Amino acid sequence: LSAGSESIGILGGTGKEGRGLATRWARAGRSVSIGSRDIARAEAAAIEVAEASGGKVRGVDNSGACEADVVVLTTPFAGLDATVSEHATRLAGKVVVSAVNPLRFDAGTISTVAVAEGSAAELVAARLPGSRVGAAFHNLSSKILLDLAHEIDEDVPVVADDEAAELVITGLCADLGARGVAVGPLTLARYVEGFTAVLLTLNRRRKTQAGIRFTGID
Ligand SMILES: NC(=O)c1ccc[n+]([C@@H]2O[C@H](COP(=O)([O-])OP(=O)(O)OC[C@H]3O[C@@H](n4cnc5c(N)ncnc54)[C@H](OP(=O)(O)O)[C@@H]3O)[C@@H](O)[C@H]2O)c1
Repeated sequence: LSAGSESIGILGGTGKEGRGLATRWARAGRSVSIGSRDIARAEAAAIEVAEASGGKVRGVDNSGACEADVVVLTTPFAGLDATVSEHATRLAGKVVVSAVNPLRFDAGTISTVAVAEGSAAELVAARLPGSRVGAAFHNLSSKILLDLAHEIDEDVPVVADDEAAELVITGLCADLGARGVAVGPLTLARYVEGFTAVLLTLNRRRKTQAGIRFTGID
């Protein structure tokens, strides 16, 4: 794979985050497949995203989205295990990037859900031994992604092995118009995922869409 040309499939792509990412990637000229458990929902989302982006977007079931070169996961955490387990065979040999945050929203507080594997991304890696699993986009608000007038001025922490991180940073992050930063291996995913609770709480208090910016790196 050469960064920049891969097709992108999104499992759970009909939701806010999936549509937001799809819109930016389609606008950048990527071939994007929005996956869903319900093909009619996927087709409706694909029409919307194609109109908003002026790009090339297909609505398919989640199995169809697994056919893309790179597969991004944007299901809620509650549906993640079943989704990746169901598609493990189709995802073998692919780069799979999780954007899933294991968060709990109750009584006005946002906290993390304990994950036996350590993080949502490590759960994915455990279920997909034949895939190359990374994680990114956890902290990037769908509201910002969907507002194409908004230039993304925040960083995207990327957790993955070096080769997959390179592909995510120079390909997927660059096409969002965001700076991707390789922070290290998948064992760090729990902190990137969990930090989203901080951002969401801050965003509620300040009525904004705060993001992350690393200083002191080129
Ligand atoms: N929203 C954000 O700003 C944001 C930012 C960064 C990261 N994230 C992460 O991205 C993920 C998606 O967030 P979202 O706000 O887009 O969520 P969402 O809209 O609630 O859900 C995304 C999609 O997942 C599918 N889905 C729902 N329940 C499912 C289940 N039990 N099993 C399989 N698929 C299921 C649905 O698609 P179908 O019904 O069409 O299958 C839904 O449209 C979350 O893990 C979140 O932590 C979100």
